[in-house]
Amino acid sequence: MIILSIETSCDETALSLIEAKGDFPTATYEIHGNALWSQIDIHKEYGGVFPMIAKREHAVTIVPLLEKVLDEAGDYDAEYTPAILPELEEKIRKLLEREPGLADQLLTFHAEHGMQTIDIIAVTNGPGLEPALWVGVNFARAIALLWDVPVVPINHMEGHVLASIYDVEEDDQLAQVAFPAISLLISGGHTELLLMKDWGQYEKIGQTRDDAVGEAYDKVARMMGISYPGGPEVAKQAEQARKKKLPPYATLPSPMLHSKDFDFSFSGLKTAVRYAIADQTLSPDDISALARDFEDAVTTVLLKKTLAAIEAHDAKTLIVGGGVSANTHIKRMFDATLLLEHPDLTAYFPKPGMSTDNSIMIALAGHARSANAILPTGTDVIRANGNRSIANN
Ligand code: KG4
Ligand code: ZN
Repeated sequence: MIILSIETSCDETALSLIEAKGDFPTATYEIHGNALWSQIDIHKEYGGVFPMIAKREHAVTIVPLLEKVLDEAGDYDAEYTPAILPELEEKIRKLLEREPGLADQLLTFHAEHGMQTIDIIAVTNGPGLEPALWVGVNFARAIALLWDVPVVPINHMEGHVLASIYDVEEDDQLAQVAFPAISLLISGGHTELLLMKDWGQYEKIGQTRDDAVGEAYDKVARMMGISYPGGPEVAKQAEQARKKKLPPYATLPSPMLHSKDFDFSFSGLKTAVRYAIADQTLSPDDISALARDFEDAVTTVLLKKTLAAIEAHDAKTLIVGGGVSANTHIKRMFDATLLLEHPDLTAYFPKPGMSTDNSIMIALAGHARSANAILPTGTDVIRANGNRSIANN
């Protein structure tokens, strides 16, 4: 099965062409083409992601990225380009009318290269920034009509779960997970604990009541004068403080540490950092020490709640995913603690490059959900849904 996957939920435009050999979840995947364009430098100036700017950027980069992916995959000039009927052209123009120039770009691409052989299109339709999601969704619907391919709408968070168990370095397969599994998803928009009793089944057992972890990292970074997205730089500063064994700069709370549920809260911690900084002139060492104090507090709660979830549900597997799962300290603390307290449990963190948003993860989810694919003429039921939940209930 040849899968074209499209991801535009936030500030990364990403497309891939991936071949699934075999059935989910035991297939082997071959990445024929993969392209990703990050808008971070554009959003940096504003200190965060602006949905309307994200949408505009997705619309101008999506056709060049499609071309790059197909080019990487090999010869993509079809032998014969059927003429497009006027009704079809009109439909495509209507679908893409909100993105200036996009219909022209796509139709020109088609005229030059012809119909592409793709079995299924997997597109993220939520959660994420709705205007940004719509670009991917409508683009998927347009190529579905143009090249007669069914479309499957994908939950971005399921993509993160599958990305974390995908061995992109060695066997190109998904890990054969033993259930029940607990999944901890930590990204810029989400912080949630999921119970998975089987493939594709997600029960939300805990979530943040306010900020997501990545969001807290980014906000703390901003207070320290580090530009968006500051998560990785805060983590770097924290590592320096550990290396230098700097004394604590502030005593910070680990919010919700003792609550009996699996929920999180990070806004109090963020405010405590703000108070610790207020009216102070911070030396570079002070910044490092405070970054470490913040990261330690975050790690303590994430670890405690995850362990509690593992124990409550007798989990055999832990899957950690989302942008923040790239964090070295969090991974190190999880690995060390799990080895000691749950030596029989298998824990998965994403391989490098698979933690932050990408389209490979959307292709994996597309394969998992291929039975839900919608025929090209019926794709108007696919809507972008900024709040799409991963939970089945
Ligand atoms: O999953 P992702 O790419 O996008 C969302 O779906 O949100 O996650 C991005 C988030 C940002 O908040 C970024 O600051 C954070 O992940 N992040 C990190 C690290 N790398 C990325 N936070 C802490 N430590 C890191 N090493
Ligand atoms: Zn994400």
